[in-house]
Amino acid sequence: MALAFTASTTIAFSSSNSRTEQGLQFSSSNFQPSDRSPAALNLPRKRSAAAKALNAEPKRNDSIVPSAATVFAPDVVDKAIEVEDIERLAQDLEKASPLEIMDKALEKYGNDIAIAFSGAEDVALIEYAYLTGRPFRVFSLDTGRLNPETYKFFDTVEKRYGIRIEYMFPDAVEVQALVRTKGLFLFYEDGHQECCRVRKVRPLRRALKGLRAWITGQRKDQSPGTRSEVSVVQVDPAFEGMDGGIGSLVKWNPVANVAGNDIWNFLRTMEVPVNTLHAQGYISIGCEPCTRPVLPGQHEREGRWWWEDAKAKECGLHKGNLKEENVNGNGSVNGNGSSDIFESQNIVNLSRPGIENLLKMEDRKDSWITVLYAPWCPFCHAMEASYVELANKLAGSGVKVGKFRADGDQKAFAQQELQLGSFPTILFFRKHSSRPIKYPSEKRDVESLMAFINALR
Ligand code: ADX
Ligand code: SF4
Repeated sequence: MALAFTASTTIAFSSSNSRTEQGLQFSSSNFQPSDRSPAALNLPRKRSAAAKALNAEPKRNDSIVPSAATVFAPDVVDKAIEVEDIERLAQDLEKASPLEIMDKALEKYGNDIAIAFSGAEDVALIEYAYLTGRPFRVFSLDTGRLNPETYKFFDTVEKRYGIRIEYMFPDAVEVQALVRTKGLFLFYEDGHQECCRVRKVRPLRRALKGLRAWITGQRKDQSPGTRSEVSVVQVDPAFEGMDGGIGSLVKWNPVANVAGNDIWNFLRTMEVPVNTLHAQGYISIGCEPCTRPVLPGQHEREGRWWWEDAKAKECGLHKGNLKEENVNGNGSVNGNGSSDIFESQNIVNLSRPGIENLLKMEDRKDSWITVLYAPWCPFCHAMEASYVELANKLAGSGVKVGKFRADGDQKAFAQQELQLGSFPTILFFRKHSSRPIKYPSEKRDVESLMAFINALR
């Protein structure tokens, strides 16, 4: 299956596979469960449909745990996916119900799509997926800091729907380094970006690298500051899918237009189990130390990272929602100065004099690869993991890896002297030449970057 992304935001899929058409007959105006409705599927009332292990697909071993998929659906994956304009699809589905949107998403992407489940009221997504009668996958980011109630709830959901949630865990070495250097509660002082990056964003990035699309429970009314423009389906502005590169992943938000109250009415009507924390006053639920109940009348987001500025409360999972105006002068999304990116011991943070020196030197000892970035830029975030990995690979190789923050006051200089067009811009400074060579491609995976470096070093 191949996927291409063009400037007109058209995503083209092709597949050599074919799939028997069955299940729901979908049209955006007429939604009719057919012979795969829960009743027809003959699922027991407790919804204990047997979960079959996913047969690992060769390309997916760097992502969601291949052997633990929720339901293996060989008859669903194989449908040829036609060329599709995601923006047009978003317009077509703008008035569709969450069930219709969910059905369309599962129909189009089969085994290459998964629901991101946080353990809160987004359990509605699982109920909708179940109601479509189609097989579906669910993953969750276990940060290691969730409430005990949330872990119990995961278990309840697995049993209720007969599924296995595909848990993603943070990298043990990274958590260890973070906690040993900064303690267990760094987020109260340094801001939550660093901890979220290690415990949530990087595991999410790994998960998404094995998918072509994902489904989230984002709603417009969850955060007027950052989510009011969330579309029901969009090209993911920040993360990459299986084929790599911006545009390789589609993000579905089936409840984008649904009000929180309506989600709760739906959950009650369908007798869906909910996290017991809700009965204690919690609405939006994240990690235990960073979530608290809200008082009647308070906005649900006020219970999250309550010690920080209310305007831009995003932890990085949905950073495409953040706009430059949400970011203060430090590039910190929460006013705590800690949201810089490309942080690694193998990446040198170049100051203005530092990069000016690089430009001046005609005969430098090492070659340098350097990214010009802005910490609020989703495309920079999207390439962060590859760049950190690249830096680890290049350590001790004679090619140094640097970063230069080129927004704000530095932007004009970077445009004039460093060929900055858009963020990120990647430059290669060869050993014996002062003129940097600009990386021409949109592909920012480690292999492509290595090919560029090897061609020039
Ligand atoms: S967050 O970015 O502030 O943490 P929020 O709690 O509003 O996100 O949830 C919005 C959607 O993000 C959820 O419905 C879910 O799809 C996804 N999400 C949030 N947290 C997780 C998690 N721990 N695991 C998987 N998905 C998550
Ligand atoms: Fe860390 Fe809090 Fe973010 Fe959880 S929500 S990953 S504990 S900062």
